[in-house]
Amino acid sequence: METNFSKRRIAVFVSGNGSNFEAIAQAAQQGVIPSCEVALCVCDRPGAGALLRAERLGIDTLVFSARDYASKAEYEAMIADALDAAGIQLVCLAGYMRIVGDTLLERYEGRIINIHPSLLPSFPGAHGIQDAFEHGCKMFGVTIHYVDKTLDGGRIIDQQGFHYDGDDINELEEMIHATEHRLYPATITRLLDTKL
Ligand code: GRF
Repeated sequence: METNFSKRRIAVFVSGNGSNFEAIAQAAQQGVIPSCEVALCVCDRPGAGALLRAERLGIDTLVFSARDYASKAEYEAMIADALDAAGIQLVCLAGYMRIVGDTLLERYEGRIINIHPSLLPSFPGAHGIQDAFEHGCKMFGVTIHYVDKTLDGGRIIDQQGFHYDGDDINELEEMIHATEHRLYPATITRLLDTKL
């Protein structure tokens, strides 16, 4: 794919499936997020499904194993150098299963966002959908927030909720992911247009 540095350049961080990464990348490639290129997919799990999507979409990847580094500061410095080299303006976490540390937070301050599959501050953590479902919630949804030192606790940028009264968690998960795939590109568009 041709690289065009006149476009706003973003990176998406993943650890697994990568459906949000693909939704963002397609939105950029199709101009739904105007003048934007997903220039880098950063992945901490060699073999993650997201990497196959990146290959199919023609997007550069940076794959690493944390255990190859002495510390979080060391691998985050490596990542930040790669982001700088790629001219990244905005970092979008999408199923990246690591707590972001001081090194990345300082070097990309105010420019790292995350998507979470619950209406925060309810149900932070790795099992937001399941936790809300088992709690018996009837309102579900998705949150996009700035990343800070807290777990899913940074300032909220946008949310979208919906009512669900069914008993099928698989159906609910599909509804959550469909909501994510609409909300994340829309929020990225808004952020790129306003403050970056
Ligand atoms: C999404 O539900 C996202 O909200 C959460 O992790 C999941 C990632 O899914 N942080 P995918 O890898 O984008 O399919």
